[in-house]
Amino acid sequence: MKLCMIGTGYVGLVSGVCFADLGNEVICVDKNADKINFLKKGKIPIYEPGLSELVIKNFKNKRLNFSTNLKKSVSESDIIFICVGTPSKKGSSTADLSQIYDVAKEISSSINKFKIVITKSTVPVTTGDEIEKILSRKNNKNKFSVVSNPEFLREGEAIRDFIYPDRVVIGTLDKKSNRILKNLYSPLISKGASYLQTSRRAAELIKYASNAFLATKITFINEIANLCEKTGVNVEDISIGMGLDKRIGSRFLRAGPAYGGSCFPKDTKAITSTADKFKTNLSVVKSVIKSNKNRSKILLNRVYEILNKKIKNKKITFLGVTFKANTDDMRDSSSLIMIPALSKKGAQIKYFDPTGIKKEFSKIKNVYNSNSIKDAIKGSDLVIIHTEWNDFKSINFKSLIKGKKFIIYDMRNIYSPNKIKAQGFKYYSIGR
Ligand code: UGA
Repeated sequence: MKLCMIGTGYVGLVSGVCFADLGNEVICVDKNADKINFLKKGKIPIYEPGLSELVIKNFKNKRLNFSTNLKKSVSESDIIFICVGTPSKKGSSTADLSQIYDVAKEISSSINKFKIVITKSTVPVTTGDEIEKILSRKNNKNKFSVVSNPEFLREGEAIRDFIYPDRVVIGTLDKKSNRILKNLYSPLISKGASYLQTSRRAAELIKYASNAFLATKITFINEIANLCEKTGVNVEDISIGMGLDKRIGSRFLRAGPAYGGSCFPKDTKAITSTADKFKTNLSVVKSVIKSNKNRSKILLNRVYEILNKKIKNKKITFLGVTFKANTDDMRDSSSLIMIPALSKKGAQIKYFDPTGIKKEFSKIKNVYNSNSIKDAIKGSDLVIIHTEWNDFKSINFKSLIKGKKFIIYDMRNIYSPNKIKAQGFKYYSIGR
């Protein structure tokens, strides 16, 4: 079986490399020639732990290749994975499917034998039906099957999530495609992944419903954290106490800044937009979007309170600016709201992120990148731990900076309040 991944973003690149590592022959296609040349040299356009090693290994052993030639790659392959982006349309909640449909049109003129055409990109329910219509326009009868196979990997944990998924969801009622795909995924199923065959529309919706539910869980605990702060309760006790109930589960109950990234913000919006289109109201998800949008304001107000509303000329440090650890991704990171707002109020901001300087802040007044934690926190009035990188988990603040004591606002609850306070620092965290 020869596989073709169209789109070398997170999903396409990680899945392609992992499939190659499982012994398949894989060609990854992208229209961006620079990116393809970069990849051929073993260079990786994204920061993802472990990815570079796997690309180099599988490119060398010739199971993995890269190309800009979509038509040739499709005609030489048996299984085609569409992995292009489905961002929000400008100024709208709706998913922009133009890249999906463009790719489908190109595939339709390259079908020379039976092919399974799979959407791995996150696509609204009924998109597979549209792809099927596009592929049917050419004389392709009985030469393809359109399947939905959503991906559930997380940035920063992508390789582990691919190899050890909780479940593999295959949306097709076509027996032949199901048999072939079950076989393709058999190395993961034998390691314990559940295999669910379902209708194509159900698979499409499972992906959105999962992301919307996880976003709801996070938003729920963030709101509970606000209540904890008012009532002197530790939100971590609540997360543990709730999580011990197997019906609830303990994961994704970590309170913190607003959720961000390339998926939850766009997918929560897209599912409400799809529901509106089908004249039904996903009011819970709409509330989640609203609450998450308000989250950065709540945390900013806390910063103002901590600094007694005197922000002008205050030296504020951000440790971590990406939306979460182990990624260089800045998309919808709450730092993009907080840093400009503090700069506008006259703060002097230094930030350190293990993935380096960020172009997003280059035009914001009084915002500077530091090359080390020590440099970032030197002379600071307030240190905000924004992202939970391991680099920030064992800092000895007392020995790192002698002299002036700063305030610490730990937005990821990394430190034990008592230990930090014992070192003489004023310490604030989330929901405790
Ligand atoms: C998310 C899903 O977790 C993946 O299953 C899915 O495949 C992916 O979207 C996608 O649709 O492609 P990702 O966006 O990489 O993955 O990151 P998460 O680890 O889910 O974190 C998302 C946001 O939630 C981050 O801002 C993170 O800091 C926040 N979060 C997560 C919390 O605030 N608390 C938690 O307990 C967990």
